[in-house]
Amino acid sequence: MQILDGKSCAGQIRAEIAAQVRQLLAEGLRAPHLVAVLVGDDGASETYVANKVRDCDEVGFNSTVTRLGADASEAKLLALIAELNADDAVDGFIVQLPLPGHVDEHQITLAIDPAKDVDGFGPSNVGLMCLGKPAFLPATPNGVMELLARHDIETEGRHCVVLGRSNIVGTPMSILLSRNSRPGNCTVTIAHSRTRGLAKLCASADVLITAIGKPHFVTADMVKEGAVVVDVGTTRLADSSRPSGFRLVGDVDFAQVAPKCSWISPVPGGVGPMTRASLLQNTLKAYRNRTRQDDV
Ligand code: GUN
Repeated sequence: MQILDGKSCAGQIRAEIAAQVRQLLAEGLRAPHLVAVLVGDDGASETYVANKVRDCDEVGFNSTVTRLGADASEAKLLALIAELNADDAVDGFIVQLPLPGHVDEHQITLAIDPAKDVDGFGPSNVGLMCLGKPAFLPATPNGVMELLARHDIETEGRHCVVLGRSNIVGTPMSILLSRNSRPGNCTVTIAHSRTRGLAKLCASADVLITAIGKPHFVTADMVKEGAVVVDVGTTRLADSSRPSGFRLVGDVDFAQVAPKCSWISPVPGGVGPMTRASLLQNTLKAYRNRTRQDDV
């Protein structure tokens, strides 16, 4: 069994991006600028955004966090998005999800300029991705593709089961892995809460991607000997022995499942850091598109 080491791959990606930013600055150009919009005070979102800011600092990007209260109206958020769309000093921005219940997330993603939609959640980027055209790919599925690529995992012709059908992970993951690409060329099955015979289906997977947010849901009987398992789940479980008061737990019962796998990603240190690295990649791409810089 070998580990899909997201922590180390993400570090490599950040180092590559930092080198490109140094080159831009040496040429007298400005650094890329990412804005994160945070509505309300959801604890997990606070942590995610703080990590994104830290990543920007590390690679030399400018970053700004714009906060709105939990009771901010949809109109106020739409007005802020219009400002960010028009602001030439902003290359890309994200509106951290989930949003308070009174705000329609679809209206928000619709309002973001596709050229600045570095989360890749808007219909324009989703549509381009489905067509196999250049687009901002959503961070987590793109991070999983990078993780597979950087460990040289052969996926061609293999049966991949994606557990979960969300718009931001399961569905785009299934599209990327079924594409004629490397990694890719999988035969993909999307499984979800209504799937019959789930355990048997998962056990038929050569590549199993889990994105359901149910701690330790995937047990050894659900995994084929020699499978590649990528665990996207990150649930916070209360843990008074940790300074943070919680620990992150994946969808996979790692201790039980790992011995059966050829490759497996841990939680933490697997997909999470790759998701963060993907956002940096998209932000640099947005910057280059907007300033018409060719890739180095
Ligand atoms: N909430 C959970 N994951 C994400 C993400 O990748 N982007 C945004 N904007 N919100 C999220």
